[in-house]
Amino acid sequence: MIQITQQYRRLAFIISCILGLLVYWKMFKNNYIEENINMTHDFIVPFINYVPGFFVSPENKLVACEIRKSMSQLTTNLMCLLYNETQFVADKNTLNDTWEAPRHCMQEHSFTNFSDDLKNDTDTVKFAFIRDPIRRFLSFYLNKCVDKSECYDCGSDMRCVVERIYNGLWNIQNDRNMTFILMEAHAAPLSWNCGFNEGVSKWELLMMGSDLDERTSSTTKLAKILRKQGVRHELVESIEKDILKGETAHSTFKSTNRLAAEKQIREDPVVRYFLHKIYFFDYVVFPFKRDVLDPEYRSIFATAPAKVDIKFFV
Ligand SMILES: *[C@@H]1O[C@H](CO)[C@@H](O)[C@H](O)[C@H]1NC(C)=O
Ligand SMILES: *[C@@H]1O[C@H](CO)[C@@H](O)[C@H](O)[C@H]1NC(C)=O
Ligand SMILES: *[C@@H]1O[C@H](CO)[C@@H](O)[C@H](O)[C@H]1NC(C)=O
Ligand SMILES: *[C@@H]1O[C@H](CO)[C@@H](O)[C@H](O)[C@H]1NC(C)=O
Ligand SMILES: *[C@@H]1O[C@H](CO)[C@@H](O)[C@H](O)[C@H]1NC(C)=O
Ligand SMILES: *[C@@H]1O[C@H](CO)[C@@H](O)[C@H](O)[C@H]1NC(C)=O
Repeated sequence: MIQITQQYRRLAFIISCILGLLVYWKMFKNNYIEENINMTHDFIVPFINYVPGFFVSPENKLVACEIRKSMSQLTTNLMCLLYNETQFVADKNTLNDTWEAPRHCMQEHSFTNFSDDLKNDTDTVKFAFIRDPIRRFLSFYLNKCVDKSECYDCGSDMRCVVERIYNGLWNIQNDRNMTFILMEAHAAPLSWNCGFNEGVSKWELLMMGSDLDERTSSTTKLAKILRKQGVRHELVESIEKDILKGETAHSTFKSTNRLAAEKQIREDPVVRYFLHKIYFFDYVVFPFKRDVLDPEYRSIFATAPAKVDIKFFV
């Protein structure tokens, strides 16, 4: 009799321990999510389908996404080459052509139309170049605001630029007004591109940073994709070489403007405040290092909202 009671007691003890842990875990988890949501309640949310732009090589069952200020020029040229090499060569196009260069592919409907057929084909491979969101902003800023003075009426006033971008994206987010606005389209978070709202995991993401190792490894990954999709060997090799050559020349140059802008991004609290609001969720959705963020944002939403609570955002 005594033995039985003791056994029951032990059992009851174990059960209550487990229940306690469950309740604690649930409270902790809810609180954790709530705190994170509170911290980011006025942030730009991820996964609004604002700027889907695709380049297609039907023959290779290959689809690339164009993300502005994220190797978009190279993506366009590369896909144009794969779309019709004969035409590309005849037109004397190269992988480092700029926007001004005329390209036949751009007039081809099947070059920009990501058809349902291809979408459903399990052999289709999709890839996108992605780069650190704050570095991407820097490149946007230097190009559009400093060099071209096309940033609203801000000139090169970075505080003005980040605030205008934030307000612009905030309006799009709240009104769900998908009218294309050039500035917002260039500055939108990565996750607003490529139809990423339908899932990021189905994409081959090629990280293109300033780090040479990263670029080399992404280029290797791209070469592997191209070979798998039937692009001939010599062409893949020359593409690989061209990318690395072009990129190296690009990234070693540090103008005074660039250095000054980098410093402001690192140090100006107003600029950082807005950059966090705009790009924080890109650091959650994509596997970027978070050490460029302020300390309080380095660990929150450690689990991607895509898994935890995308319903809060979309
Ligand atoms: C989140 O904000 C709401 C309303 O502002 C507040 O009631 C709640 O206590 C906050 N939660 C946490 C965990 O800070
Ligand atoms: C590629 O371009 C050439 C030259 O304009 C053309 O003859 C050929 O039909 C094109 N091929 C495809 C698959 O569109
Ligand atoms: C463009 O790329 C080609 C190789 O594809 C290279 O020979 C040429 O020098 C590059 N031009 C510029 C302006 O960088
Ligand atoms: C893409 O092409 C398909 C047919 O191949 C067509 O039904 C569809 O409307 C096109 N989509 C766009 C956005 O043009
Ligand atoms: C592609 O798949 C979707 C859903 O899986 C289906 O509704 C659609 O009809 C398919 N389209 C084609 C062209 O097979
Ligand atoms: C959507 O945004 C565009 C550009 O800002 C604006 O011209 C248009 O009036 C907006 N449409 C609606 C329905 O608010």
